[in-house]
Amino acid sequence: MALMFLSETVRAYRQRDPAARSNLEVALCYPGLHAVALHGLSSFFWRHRFYLLGRMISHAGRFLTGIEIHPGARLGRRFVIDHGMGVVIGETAEVGDDVYIYHQVTLGGISTQLGKRHPTIGNNVIIGAGAKVLGAIQVGDNVRIGANAVVVSAVPAGTTVVGIPARPVEQSGRMESRSEAYGTPADPCLDPLLQELDMLRSELTELETRITRLAGERV
Ligand SMILES: CC(C)(COP(=O)(O)OP(=O)(O)OC[C@H]1O[C@@H](n2cnc3c(N)ncnc32)[C@H](O)[C@@H]1OP(=O)(O)O)[C@@H](O)C(=O)NCCC(=O)NCCS
Repeated sequence: MALMFLSETVRAYRQRDPAARSNLEVALCYPGLHAVALHGLSSFFWRHRFYLLGRMISHAGRFLTGIEIHPGARLGRRFVIDHGMGVVIGETAEVGDDVYIYHQVTLGGISTQLGKRHPTIGNNVIIGAGAKVLGAIQVGDNVRIGANAVVVSAVPAGTTVVGIPARPVEQSGRMESRSEAYGTPADPCLDPLLQELDMLRSELTELETRITRLAGERV
């Protein structure tokens, strides 16, 4: 089971990180993958009330990868932590499936009270480098959080937020399918430059066809 989860996570890196060239490279050289694997182990012990052992494995993971994931945090499937250094994920944080985060992201608390105090992140969310998501807030599915944003209140599904404090820049639901790396939209039809290029290409093809036809008529 654990191996299946890890292999689908390796595939997620290959699909979403343009720098990932092979499964072996991801398995050996991606600290985010190592941190998630070690978290699987630390959270196993945590859930079975071996708290100190869980913390020690999590601490070893932090030492090896620069990524700190509390053993109590719940992570979804195909969770990709790209680059990873400086990531902090708190004890009561919950992360959905197909979430992609970059280095120096914090899913942190703002209260010292016990109980839920860290964010809940929906499915298919991208969190840019250096962003901080703070408090027991809900981040909906298909949300994009810009690099260095500080999110302190709930973010509705399909929204892109940037800045400090984070504010929406768009409410389009563009991420209903999937985003490419860096949070850029996956659907090329939505890019005006690509649309223009497509138009020019079809005009060129039409001109070539007409020239060929005219040349044929003159012979
Ligand atoms: C937030 C993000 C996903 C938006 O991407 P996008 O949909 O292509 O949005 P645009 O570039 O069209 O920007 C929309 C607006 O938000 C602003 N904006 C974009 N990212 C921002 C950020 N991180 N902080 C502040 N403002 C930002 C743009 O300036 C633009 O403002 P304007 O409408 O006033 O001109 C993207 O900018 C981002 O931050 N991705 C994370 C990338 C990352 O962490 N890379 C690390 C790789 S190692």
